[in-house]
Amino acid sequence: MIAAERLDGVEACVFDAYGTLFDVHSAVGRHRDRVGEAADSVSASWRAKQLQYTWLRSLMERWTPFAEVTEDSLDFALDEAGIEDESLRADLLAAYRSLACYPEVEGVLDALRASGMRTAILSNGSREMLDAAVASAGIGSRLDAVLSVDDVRVFKPHPDVYRLACDRLAVAPRAVCFLSSNAWDAAGAATFGFRVAWVNRFGQARERLPDAPEVEIATLDPLPGLVLG
Ligand code: LAC
Repeated sequence: MIAAERLDGVEACVFDAYGTLFDVHSAVGRHRDRVGEAADSVSASWRAKQLQYTWLRSLMERWTPFAEVTEDSLDFALDEAGIEDESLRADLLAAYRSLACYPEVEGVLDALRASGMRTAILSNGSREMLDAAVASAGIGSRLDAVLSVDDVRVFKPHPDVYRLACDRLAVAPRAVCFLSSNAWDAAGAATFGFRVAWVNRFGQARERLPDAPEVEIATLDPLPGLVLG
């Protein structure tokens, strides 16, 4: 734990999916030999472009499902690396639907639910991508809800996305602890009014945005201690 205080009055823990529960770099990792020496830069570029396209499309008012954004950003990353391989492209996209879960996720969800805490995913992911990833990781029974931006047709950090969790779970923003490893998502959720714990898995510098997360942790392990009485 890097810095933490107790968060009182939390009724639901709401998790970002990609990068927070699921390791987005495990897709290229599974096909590292075929991608070759550019593997790490392809994976980083794929993720960076994927996020940029969500922000740009939201600003342009040209929403499209995250599955399509994920294909477009992979095409950019492969093109940038000079890789033209349809079968590899298909296998990378398939791997994105069954990403590895971070090792502490199952135990943390179990601990939260054993104490009556509600749990949900709130993600930019398309519904069918999220359902596939959740099923493949075997965490469906550990979640009360899997919420996709498909229902609001705009991406994070638009407040409509965070509001979706309050509406579906029937909880006030201050009763939600939102967890994200994406610093910009943590900032957006804090601006909306959630209690936020930034899961700084990658030791990143803090963002300079209007609102900051209340708590910074390195993995999800300290979460039960933060929110359970
Ligand atoms: C998500 C992206 C932002 O799951 O990681 O919403």
